[in-house]
Amino acid sequence: TIMPTRPDINAPLIVVSNRLPFVLQRLKDGSLIRKNSAGGLVTAVAPVVIDCKGIWIGWSGLYDLGPDESIPEADPLDKAPTSGLKSSQVIPVNIDKEDFEDYYNGCCNGTFWPLFHSMPDRAVFNADTWKSYCKVNEEFANCTLDALRNVIKDLDAEGKTNVVPVVWIHDYQLLVAATTIRQKCEEENLRCKLGFFLHIPFPSWDIMRLFPWDDQILQGILAYDFVGFHIEDYCLNFIDCCCRRLGSRVDRNNMLVELAGRTVHVKALPIGIPFERFVQLAQNAPENLNDKNLKVILGVDRLDYTKGLVHRIKAFERLLEKHPEYCEKVTFLQISVPSRTDVLEYKALKDEMDQLVGRINGRFSKPHWSPIRYIFGCIAQEELAALYRDSAIALVTPLRDGMNLVAKEYVACQIREPGVLILSPFAGAGGMMHEALLVNPYELDAAANVLHRALCMPLDERELRMSQLRHREQQLDVNHWMNSFLSSMGALDNDDDSDPLS
Ligand code: F6P
Repeated sequence: TIMPTRPDINAPLIVVSNRLPFVLQRLKDGSLIRKNSAGGLVTAVAPVVIDCKGIWIGWSGLYDLGPDESIPEADPLDKAPTSGLKSSQVIPVNIDKEDFEDYYNGCCNGTFWPLFHSMPDRAVFNADTWKSYCKVNEEFANCTLDALRNVIKDLDAEGKTNVVPVVWIHDYQLLVAATTIRQKCEEENLRCKLGFFLHIPFPSWDIMRLFPWDDQILQGILAYDFVGFHIEDYCLNFIDCCCRRLGSRVDRNNMLVELAGRTVHVKALPIGIPFERFVQLAQNAPENLNDKNLKVILGVDRLDYTKGLVHRIKAFERLLEKHPEYCEKVTFLQISVPSRTDVLEYKALKDEMDQLVGRINGRFSKPHWSPIRYIFGCIAQEELAALYRDSAIALVTPLRDGMNLVAKEYVACQIREPGVLILSPFAGAGGMMHEALLVNPYELDAAANVLHRALCMPLDERELRMSQLRHREQQLDVNHWMNSFLSSMGALDNDDDSDPLS
């Protein structure tokens, strides 16, 4: 296996994200334990924070964490990537329940999530939730500033007065946190490099301008030194918004935005997955006990309206209408992971899916076969890897998606006879995973046809497509992404920003 190179960061790193890399749970006796998160971002970034003695700031998952209550150390048997994070390296941001409701369920997921996914009809614009969003962002900013002051104090005490700490803030929950950080840094003369990565799409000006306080969002993002998006389209949308809304001077060729005498660098940095970890999971995953003659079409998503689940299930229904020969030969397994269950739109989608699956199963099922197997719940990583490995088709058809990691995880786990990836062009991944079969998820007939084509695809074509897909994801994995981000910020010693595919 190729060992990913760990970046040699030349300064302490402060990572800020809505959630900490693990959430806290309170046991009945009042004590706290860490519950690990399995995401790729955590797998890649946590070891760097550990190595550079950095800090991770985020919401703990609890409302009742006392101000002086300390974070528990990891269980000595814990093998998660975060287990080496000492409690002193983790700073929880305390948010009270009402603020959190307005910030997270209200503004983040009721406003920005649909808006940034270009679904403005689902977005609610509300001055109160926006106010809470700004307040919570300020709380994150104040925690970050406290951490930064301490880091600088330690560096100065060691005589490292030239070392500039790096602050890396993540995602749409924290769009305006840098406004406060930049202002205080200037007032107090604190040195730092401020970087931001957006994990979701950035919409066009036509959509962005619908948000009544769009100028504050853009100014918030321009408070950074460096801003990363998944793909060039999102970068250009952002640059366009700055130009049209704020009158910023912009250079689209070099991806620069200037405002009030400061220049912000923008760059497309498509995120990857921990490729080798998924290969290993697939190698060690339990054997498939299913009927070998039954082909599985697999869908795995958070239950979210951006993922195109309703369209996808209807496309599968269309396949069975057009090709009844697939009855009892093919089954569609959809795993929908519960997400943001307090938000109305997500509750409505749950009901719609339950009904749709019931109707289609009622229509086509036979005594010993059902067309759709539907799981509303989480499944273990090992089990997921086995499903990725053994499914004939992965159906990844979001209506809009920043990147989409399921497409990448599927190809990583394809270590046996290869299947086929069907992908939406409206996912960031759709622009790079050229050997997938691309289909517009809104076009049900086309989607049914592409399913038919995938089910009939000869082995040599599947092999060729899959080996190229796997090669790319192996090279452009999450470590490569993280190195590129830090290197673009000028934070690496062993600087190798070359493109491994060129
Ligand atoms: O990238 C989108 C994102 O919101 C991440 O910030 C988050 O980790 C993930 O999706 C899951 O969402 P949530 O934290 O709302 O459960």
